[in-house]
Amino acid sequence: MEALKGVKILDFTHVQSGPTCTQLLAWFGADVIKVERPGVGDATRKQLVDVPGADSLYFTMLNHNKRSITLNTKDPTGKEILEKLVKECDVLVENFAPGALDRMGFGWERIQELNPRMIMASVKGFGPGPYEDCKVYENVAQCTGGSASTTGFLDGPPTVTGAQIGDSGTGLHLALGIVTALYHREKSGRGQRVLAAMQDGVLNLCRVKLRDQQRLERGPLKEYSQYGQGIEFGETTPRAGNDSGGGQPGWILKCKGWETDPDAYVYFITQAAVWGKICDLIGQPDWKEDPNYATPDARLDKIPQVFDRIEEWTKTKTKFEVMDACNPLDIPCGPILSMKELSQEPSLRETGTIVEVDHPERGPYLTVGCPVKLSDSPAEVKRSPLLGEHTAEILQEVLGYAGDEFERVVKSGAVGDVTPIAAE
Ligand code: COA
Repeated sequence: MEALKGVKILDFTHVQSGPTCTQLLAWFGADVIKVERPGVGDATRKQLVDVPGADSLYFTMLNHNKRSITLNTKDPTGKEILEKLVKECDVLVENFAPGALDRMGFGWERIQELNPRMIMASVKGFGPGPYEDCKVYENVAQCTGGSASTTGFLDGPPTVTGAQIGDSGTGLHLALGIVTALYHREKSGRGQRVLAAMQDGVLNLCRVKLRDQQRLERGPLKEYSQYGQGIEFGETTPRAGNDSGGGQPGWILKCKGWETDPDAYVYFITQAAVWGKICDLIGQPDWKEDPNYATPDARLDKIPQVFDRIEEWTKTKTKFEVMDACNPLDIPCGPILSMKELSQEPSLRETGTIVEVDHPERGPYLTVGCPVKLSDSPAEVKRSPLLGEHTAEILQEVLGYAGDEFERVVKSGAVGDVTPIAAE
C-alpha cells in the first residue's frame, strides 16, 4: 500500500530543489500534479540536452511518477482552473523566485481563503532578512550556507561539492516539513505554511562546522591534520581537505593504480578501537606499544605521518583489496567509487537504488530510485511525464470538466494543446 495514497500535491516546482521534494512524495504514493507553462514547461526539459528533441536527463531524473498539466496561470481561465486545483489538492509546493506566487494572485492569504486545509510549502534561497528577495541556485546556497568556506584544501580556494546539498538537500528538508504538516493537519484540521530556505538547509548539513567554530575559540582543533602539520589556526573553521570531521581521524589514501586511475583511492579511518589491528595490517606492530602512537591523544599531532605510513601499505593494494583486508577486521574504510562503477554495481540495481527506466522519446536511461525504503510501501519508479501529457485527464477526471465546459477551457488557450481522453 502506498504510504501517501490519496494525498494530492499541486506541484508548482521547477529546476531541482522543489522537484526533488515532490518526486519523493510521489514515490511515497502521493498524486503529484505538476503545473507547467503551455509550450514551455520546466526549463530543465530543454537544458543539458543529450538526445535532440527528447526531454533532458536533467528533467526526467527529477520528475518521475508525476502527472503534467499545462496551464497559463496568468490567463483568466487558467486562474479559474488553478482555483479548482487549489480547492482539490492537499499541498501546494513551489520554488518560484520570491513574490512570484503573490504576483500570480495566489499568495498565502488567497490560498487559505480557497482551501483552509491546504499546506503551502516553499523553497526559497534565503529566509526572512537582507537577502529574502534574491534568486538562488545550488552553488549560491553552498557558498552562503557555510559549505564552500569549509570545503577544499587549506592552501586552495573555497570549493563547491558535487553533492547537491543546496537543491536536493533542501528538497529533502521540505518533504519532511510537508509530511509533518500533513500529520499536524490530522489533528488541527488546518493547513499551514512550510518554508525551507536553501541557506538554512546547507547550514543544517554543515552543523559540525559551526561546532568547530565554537571549539576554535577555546583552542586549536587537534583532530584537523593542520594541527599535526604545525600550521596555526585562524579565526574561522578552516578548510580541512579530507579530514574526517569527527573524532576518528580519516583521510583519502592512494591505492594501486592511482597514477592512471583518478579514482584509485580509499577513505581510511583510524578508529581508535581497531588501532592495534591497523598496526598489524600495515606491518607496524611496534606502534601498538610505542607511547608516541599507542593512544589517540598521542597520535593527534602525528595524523599526517600516520596516514603517510598507512598509504605505503594501501598503495600496494587495489581499493577493493584494501576493503577486503579491512572489513573482516572491522576497520572502517571505503573505496572511492566513480559514477561509472556505481551505475554498474549489481547490488544497487537489486535494491532499486539505481533503476533503468524506459522513456518514449529517449529510450532507456538510468536514474537514482527512492533512497528511502519503506517495508510496506515500496516505491516503483515510473518515467517522467511529457509536457502536458495529463492535461485532459486532470481537467476531466480530477476537476470534473466535461462537455461544453471542457470545450470552453480548451478553446480559451489557457491549457495549451489538449487531446481529450476518450469516454469509456
Ligand atoms: N503560467 C504562467 N506563468 C508562470 C507559470 C505558469 N504556469 N509558471 C511560472 N510562471 C511565471 C512566474 O509567475 C514568474 O513570473 P513573474 O516573474 O512575472 O512573477 C516567471 O514565470 C518566472 O518564475 P521564476 O521563479 O522567477 O523563474 P526564473 O527562471 O527567473 O528563476 C530560480 C529561477 C530558480 C532562480 C527562482 O525560481 C528561485 O530563486 N527560486 C527559489 C530558490 C530555488 O528553488 N532555487 C533553486 C532552483 S534549483
